[in-house]
Amino acid sequence: MGGLAQDEMLAPIPGGAVAVRPLNDAIGVEAVGLDLREEIPDSVFEAIRDAWHRNCVILFRGQNLDEGAQVNFARRFGELGKVLHQHNGRTSLPGVMYISNIRENGQLIGALPDGEMYFHSDQCYIESPSVATMLYAMEVPSKGGDTIFANMFAAYDALSDEMKVRLEGLRALNVYDYQNAATVRGSEPREGVPAWAHPVVRTHSATGRKALYLNRLMTHHIVGMDRAESDALLDELFAHQEQERFIYAHVWKPGDLIMWDNRSSLHARSDFDASERRLMRRTVVVREN
Ligand code: OGA
Ligand code: MN
Repeated sequence: MGGLAQDEMLAPIPGGAVAVRPLNDAIGVEAVGLDLREEIPDSVFEAIRDAWHRNCVILFRGQNLDEGAQVNFARRFGELGKVLHQHNGRTSLPGVMYISNIRENGQLIGALPDGEMYFHSDQCYIESPSVATMLYAMEVPSKGGDTIFANMFAAYDALSDEMKVRLEGLRALNVYDYQNAATVRGSEPREGVPAWAHPVVRTHSATGRKALYLNRLMTHHIVGMDRAESDALLDELFAHQEQERFIYAHVWKPGDLIMWDNRSSLHARSDFDASERRLMRRTVVVREN
């Protein structure tokens, strides 16, 4: 699939035209000409949502959002996810959380503080994972801490016909257990950790396209398959889905807002210097309107 062949002009709105343009040939579009604090007309909103569905990732640069504005924008897409942890007594609007390595009085103010993260899809270890995750960059390190996106529509399409047949009807167990990483082959998930088996090929409800749904961080094994065979198949699929040709790496600037589709893409994070500050505001959409 890749991005769009050329800029797509969307409906004009007061203050200028809105367009979306590809981030690269692999995945993602940038929407240009929008201030997300403003009320977005329905026709423009629908065009944006459609471009996001088809391209998996959408970027809005140069935004200036407080919690309320981010929540309002996210809620146009659907119901927001509940936030499980409030960090260090910070009061936030419901549905808002922070991803950060910053400590105040020795306490982390956000989740997922440090370093590199393998490719994954958010909440793949529960029955109904949230469809969208939005990150708004507030403070970014001078280098690294990039978020890297991989297009799982394109990864599925590029499989051989034999592999597509082989994957038909298979399910994989996804596990949330970073203490005992799913991907440490040979280890078993600990008792009681969140885990759910999903089809390894899922059909996107809005586009009807098939996407490869498994990942190096959390997929433990193919259900009902001999473990050695499962390990070999997963290694082959991880290597396939993480190829450069499916990937866009985003170098963040403060004011960037990115929304990704957990049904059709994976994301990862590159390492960064632990002594530099990184602060992102996160909202998730559980299900679409
Ligand atoms: C997340 C996530 C990556 C990042 O918020 O789910 O994976 O770049 N974040 O912080
Ligand atoms: Mn994530």
